[in-house]
Amino acid sequence: MARRRHDFFWKEAKRWGYRSRASFKLIQINERFGVIRKGYKVVDLGAAPGGWLQVAKDIAGEKGVVIGVDLLPIEPIEGVFTLKKDIRRPDVVDQILEITGGDKVDAVLSDASPNLSGNWSWDHGRSIDLAETALGVSDKILKEDGNFVVKVFQGDMYRAFFRTVLTRFERVNAYTPRASRKESAEIYLIGRGYRRASHTTVG
Ligand SMILES: C[S@@+](CC[C@H](N)C(=O)[O-])C[C@H]1O[C@@H](n2cnc3c(N)ncnc32)[C@H](O)[C@@H]1O
Repeated sequence: MARRRHDFFWKEAKRWGYRSRASFKLIQINERFGVIRKGYKVVDLGAAPGGWLQVAKDIAGEKGVVIGVDLLPIEPIEGVFTLKKDIRRPDVVDQILEITGGDKVDAVLSDASPNLSGNWSWDHGRSIDLAETALGVSDKILKEDGNFVVKVFQGDMYRAFFRTVLTRFERVNAYTPRASRKESAEIYLIGRGYRRASHTTVG
């Protein structure tokens, strides 16, 4: 526990006023892939406690729109919209579009994780399920040419999911930020250049 509480990125999060060490994962992803830019509309699925929302808002700026969705409540962040909601609920799409005034968004992010059971294949399956949900939401709200970031725990369904993401984006990369814990099975898929025509919509 001592290591968990006091590791480098935890200390850095405190120092910079971020709510979670996860903030640095998004910073590193964005430095490498430029998925969020000034003025972007960004949706973050599985956003509590809000570390990614803080980073996304900093980058998107005043003119950007940032919306976070989570099962858990998120303490308010200035200029950020939040929804306390299960991302698997079909009406999540309408609620997001209500906030944007019907506009589609430039980037969909998902760092959603199941509560870990310790059973590797069960946790993997639930993580893929959440990642597919995030992709399904993207199919409904992402602009042509938009960007996508999703976390998955690696396992036997990973390759098939990667191929599904490939059908939708011009470029897809798998990336593990330095801020991910070494022992973690998590990996992020980064899709850039959403292509509406090249696939059949999920869900
Ligand atoms: C690792 S945390 C996200 C951390 C966040 N990126 C940050 O920087 O603060 C994963 C989140 O996914 C959420 N989550 C898991 N399943 C969900 C679901 N079905 N709908 C909405 N949120 C979900 C959890 O409640 C949890 O808050």
